[in-house]
Amino acid sequence: MFKFVGFCGFKSIVFLLLLVPSLFVLVSADEDAFIGVNIGTDLSDMPHPTQVVALLKSQQIRHVRLYDADRGMLVALANTGIKVAVTIPNEQLLGIGQSNSTAAHWVSQNIVAHYPATNITTICVGSEVFNALPNAAPVLVNALKFIQGALVASNLDRQIKVSTPIASTVILDSFPPSQAFFNHSWNPVLVPLLKFLQSTGSSLMLNVYPYYDYMKSNGVIPLDYALFNPLPANKEAVDSNTLLHYTNVFDAMIDAAYFAMAELNVTNVPVLVTESGWPSKGDSNEPDATLDNANTYNSNLIKHIINQTGTPKHPGIPVSTYIYELYNEDTKPGPVSEKSWGLFDANGNPIYTLQLTNSGRTFSNDTTNQTHCTAKEGADSKMLQAALDWACGPGKVNCSALLQGQPCYEPDNVASHASFAFDTYYHMMGKGEGTCDFNGVAMLTTTDPSKASWNLCVYRKVKKLPSIAFDGTNGTFLNGSIADFNSTSSSSWRARGGYVGGGLLMKVLLAVLLS
Ligand SMILES: *[C@@H]1O[C@H](CO)[C@@H](O)[C@H](O)[C@H]1NC(C)=O
Ligand SMILES: *[C@@H]1O[C@H](CO)[C@@H](O)[C@H](O)[C@H]1NC(C)=O
Ligand SMILES: *[C@@H]1O[C@H](CO)[C@@H](O)[C@H](O)[C@H]1NC(C)=O
Ligand SMILES: *[C@@H]1O[C@H](CO)[C@@H](O)[C@H](O)[C@H]1NC(C)=O
Ligand SMILES: *[C@@H]1O[C@H](CO)[C@@H](O)[C@H](O)[C@H]1NC(C)=O
Ligand SMILES: *[C@@H]1O[C@H](CO)[C@@H](O)[C@H](O)[C@H]1NC(C)=O
Ligand SMILES: *[C@@H]1O[C@H](CO)[C@@H](O)[C@H](O)[C@H]1NC(C)=O
Ligand SMILES: *[C@@H]1O[C@H](CO)[C@@H](O)[C@H](O)[C@H]1NC(C)=O
Ligand SMILES: *[C@@H]1O[C@H](CO)[C@@H](O)[C@H](O)[C@H]1NC(C)=O
Ligand SMILES: *[C@@H]1O[C@H](CO)[C@@H](O)[C@H](O)[C@H]1NC(C)=O
Ligand SMILES: *[C@@H]1O[C@H](CO)[C@@H](O)[C@H](O)[C@H]1NC(C)=O
Repeated sequence: MFKFVGFCGFKSIVFLLLLVPSLFVLVSADEDAFIGVNIGTDLSDMPHPTQVVALLKSQQIRHVRLYDADRGMLVALANTGIKVAVTIPNEQLLGIGQSNSTAAHWVSQNIVAHYPATNITTICVGSEVFNALPNAAPVLVNALKFIQGALVASNLDRQIKVSTPIASTVILDSFPPSQAFFNHSWNPVLVPLLKFLQSTGSSLMLNVYPYYDYMKSNGVIPLDYALFNPLPANKEAVDSNTLLHYTNVFDAMIDAAYFAMAELNVTNVPVLVTESGWPSKGDSNEPDATLDNANTYNSNLIKHIINQTGTPKHPGIPVSTYIYELYNEDTKPGPVSEKSWGLFDANGNPIYTLQLTNSGRTFSNDTTNQTHCTAKEGADSKMLQAALDWACGPGKVNCSALLQGQPCYEPDNVASHASFAFDTYYHMMGKGEGTCDFNGVAMLTTTDPSKASWNLCVYRKVKKLPSIAFDGTNGTFLNGSIADFNSTSSSSWRARGGYVGGGLLMKVLLAVLLS
């Protein structure tokens, strides 16, 4: 059983991490975690392989995963230095798992024909087979072995690793991570699978979607927790068995996989995340599939991986990750979110620009300094008014442009005015951490304010400055109703119990500490 324990300061977190036994040797220390990108092809106007490769080069994407072994793509990727994971589609799995010679033929056609010009490093045998094609599961390990055998015969087994991506839903009771275990129905496949991965030095491939875990949790998982945003120390989830602190859903899922393997006595197989991402658009019942959330998740994910942070259970152990995905796939069936996981549209234009200062050279377009602070959509108008009053008063923002007759008066609504004031304050404070919170009614965005519906006033371009200086006294500042907009108080709103969601639900993937 687990419970969440109370406040634990930052120092003790660090202390605990240092105490974690480091008996676990997964990979050589010189192997760095990488970020790759999945390339799905369900687009009505799928770019030509040479265009795809041009985009990869311009974005300095060094690792890709294909959902097949498309000849055109493998040829286009030749001599680029880009490392490639190919996939045996589920449709071919039964054939390969039942016939050694079919497997050997597949390897000769799809691997040997392209290697080494195309640097194929990985073969994914099937895709989420337990969920997508359970009747092929009994031959899954055979398929892996036959493919491996063919690689050995071609003397490529050291260069190319073989595994099979599984959905994280195969791992049950993932919080606390120390209690996690694989769905025992699949043990007859998982036990030999893990043995195979162990004996070939390969990885457990896992698809990790904090977005779905968050959606399914009915408010128990805070959005910030799913997005890798900072949580106050007393809101972090703590695994009471290990006393490890979890600051994000992603890490908790990876550790759940380590513990699930350990339950089957396997402790030396690393995790490779074959898919993770966040949709930038959704239906009306998917309100958190937004540009800003997608940008935040993927930017934070990339920084987290490239920093070689590891997880609480295995700090510093690389967890390489393929982002889902390169393009929005407009012909995918299902809700709008299904079509909206991409970083780029079919023309190679970014859907949003990632915020990646100091994150190495993975994506070339760094737009960290293009962040703006804006009123949160749907924020309570009284809270917005109070925050606006504070910003224009004690916050010392010069709000004279918002007065009637002045350039930023229109649109005359509290959200628009508040956005002007919030963004001005945020820039005034040097974009310091916590300076875009305003008791939770503000949020960061990368949308250019001049293009956003909330503020048609392009205040930085205002030439004729109004002569009336706003002295900050003619407002409706609610005395004391806003505790503190000090830059250290960004978490104040989160402390108000907004996350109480039906107690500590054992079945829910993750929960947050309810103080
Ligand atoms: C392929 O990538 C691996 C891993 O980085 C590297 O060691 C190897 O030299 C590359 N092979 C070729 C043929 O470029
Ligand atoms: C499958 O073929 C490989 C060579 O491609 C061979 O090494 C291996 O022994 C064969 N396995 C079986 C079960 O026939
Ligand atoms: C475990 O897997 C079996 C077989 O796919 C499935 O029927 C069952 O619902 C799964 N159990 C849970 C708790 O997901
Ligand atoms: C794991 O090891 C324990 C103790 O050695 C043993 O009791 C258990 O049966 C093993 N489990 C598996 C799945 O091998
Ligand atoms: C990067 O890792 C260091 C420790 O290795 C940690 O202190 C820092 O917070 C990490 N930064 C990010 C952005 O994860
Ligand atoms: C990235 O930035 C460069 C200039 O720094 C620009 O030429 C290029 O078009 C940008 N690419 C994208 C995808 O935004
Ligand atoms: C971003 O802003 C910081 C400080 O505000 C500055 O030091 C840095 O050079 C800027 N980076 C770019 C790419 O403009
Ligand atoms: C406030 O801004 C206006 C222009 O919007 C300017 O004319 C005025 O001098 C500013 N007041 C102060 C105190 O900076
Ligand atoms: C505050 O300013 C408004 C104009 O924006 C004016 O109508 C109102 O009388 C002023 N209130 C006070 C108390 O000065
Ligand atoms: C504002 O708060 C201070 C102290 O907190 C109090 O003395 C003052 O009367 C309050 N003013 C109003 C208008 O409520
Ligand atoms: C914010 O709070 C800290 C500590 O509570 C204090 O040192 C700092 O001066 C405050 N800053 C402002 C702008 O009020």
